[in-house]
Amino acid sequence: MGVIKYLGHSFFEVTITGLDRSVKTLLVDPWVENPLSPVKLRDYEGRKVDYILVTHDHGDHIGDAVKLAKMTGATVVSVYEIAEYASQEGVKSIGGNIGGLLRIPDLEVVLTPATHSSSRGVPVGFYVKGLDMSFYHAGDTGLFCEMELIGEIYSPEIVMLPIGGHFTMSVREAVKAVELIKPKIVIPMHYNTFPVIQADPVLFKKLVEEKVKTRVVVLKPGEVFTYP
Ligand code: NI
Ligand code: MN
Repeated sequence: MGVIKYLGHSFFEVTITGLDRSVKTLLVDPWVENPLSPVKLRDYEGRKVDYILVTHDHGDHIGDAVKLAKMTGATVVSVYEIAEYASQEGVKSIGGNIGGLLRIPDLEVVLTPATHSSSRGVPVGFYVKGLDMSFYHAGDTGLFCEMELIGEIYSPEIVMLPIGGHFTMSVREAVKAVELIKPKIVIPMHYNTFPVIQADPVLFKKLVEEKVKTRVVVLKPGEVFTYP
């Protein structure tokens, strides 16, 4: 069973069964002490984390990735330039680029495009598949047509999409993204962390569920969604 815990902003802790049947713990965009976060950095002291996925190097996404990797022994997975930076900081890293499967033991991981900016390399999203679930974390992005291809080629069961606007898609564009990707489940993210990205996840849920069969799961920070 896969477990997705929302920790505010774009930060998720995911438990997924790897292709070798061992349980993996992943952190995605670990801005641990974001204003909505129910956890503190010290909570990770001594915990086992396998991979830390970083979509781009804006502070609200790369967050505490290096510190966490040092605390937990995790490997940072990101675009090549961010992985190089992590290596220079003394942590294990795997750097790839947008395209096909990364050579990561035990999980299928693909970096996807994201229409955004980043100081190191290009911004990306992540498609991840284990034995019990697959997900696509879109990172920070605007709407783009290739989302339809991501849905067609990978069929992610669960999709995390930004809805806060200003730096990313807002509700209107995110509804269209769901129409393009057609996942089973969508979880909104990157909203209400600070005033400029206020959005209504209940409106997002209503608009999506009027149009497509996708179920919108709105998680409060600290809440968990299990799949299947
Ligand atoms: Ni950003
Ligand atoms: Mn952001």
